[in-house]
Amino acid sequence: MKSTTLAAALLVGLAATPALAVDWAAVPGKDVTLFYPGQSSWEWVQSGADHGGAGKIRSGKVCRECHVSEEKEMGNTLVLGKKNEPTPPAGKPGSIEAVIKFAIEKDSLLVHLDFKEGTQPDAKMDPDFATKVTMMLGDAKVGESMQAGCWGTCHEDAAKMPAAGTAERTKYLTRTRAKPTRNGGGDELKPAEDLAQMQADGQVLEYWQARLKPGAAAVAAAGTVFDKRQEAKAGVVSAQAVQTDGGWSVTLSRKLSATAPFKELAEGKTYGVGFAIHSGHTARRFHYVSLEHVLAIGQGTADFVAVKK
Ligand code: HEC
Repeated sequence: MKSTTLAAALLVGLAATPALAVDWAAVPGKDVTLFYPGQSSWEWVQSGADHGGAGKIRSGKVCRECHVSEEKEMGNTLVLGKKNEPTPPAGKPGSIEAVIKFAIEKDSLLVHLDFKEGTQPDAKMDPDFATKVTMMLGDAKVGESMQAGCWGTCHEDAAKMPAAGTAERTKYLTRTRAKPTRNGGGDELKPAEDLAQMQADGQVLEYWQARLKPGAAAVAAAGTVFDKRQEAKAGVVSAQAVQTDGGWSVTLSRKLSATAPFKELAEGKTYGVGFAIHSGHTARRFHYVSLEHVLAIGQGTADFVAVKK
């Protein structure tokens, strides 16, 4: 850590957990636009009557083939309620730009995000944390995570989505549901032995999260998405954050080696990653989300290649 960054960390009292010693200035980053998604669910995206890309998605195209560099425009359309948003949040920016970097240090994978939040209205949905920064990670066992990033888990009947009613459903994978429809998978699950088999096969996504409050240490959280979002016990992922001028510099990390349901992160393998930022005390779907990206560990061809520092 550079001494100026360290001083800033100490100033806001965030140095309780010693950061791994990556000099982030020396790691090449990638600009990623996270945009406001409104109620654009995985079912909406696949519906030919609703979305121009639906047919191509069903034949395997990834979102970025059509949408890369349109994210800012899409966010503006959605946040203003021109599409897929019945309750447009007044004054909220349509997107956030982040610079994202990966590195391997000792036996851990680290992801580092630098971003400014813009002027955010206070949604008062999360009284504890002003900002939450999340990465979802999957692999070829969950094809939709490689194809569509976070969208593979976002459903028409999840909380605050069009077909939710009063249900408080969290993220889930369609494959866990007995009868998926245009309105989502509902609550009827596949037989327990089918679910157990899928889990044993590693058909699970994981997420890493930093929960941020100005002037306080980052709170780390982690968990998995299968038939629902399930928070893991503390200690899987660690988080550090430094407040910057109008934004945050956030590092999430965990050991490459992990026990199920978390994934063993293996040299030369690729993973699908998606990023989300909840800004302005928001919760649930009122976040910014990136399109899908590919991460390679150690070596390979991908959007991000995490190498040892
Ligand atoms: C074959 C090209 C194609 C692919 C692949 C594609 N889309 Fe689209 N998408 C479109 C077109 C065209 C529109 C604008 C018109 C419409 O809504 O049909 C659109 C619109 C959208 C919108 C609404 C915002 C706007 O500006 O209209 C969202 C959200 C969206 N797509 C998300 C996705 C996601 C998520 C994926 C991947 C799962 C995806 N799209 C894949 C072509 C595509």
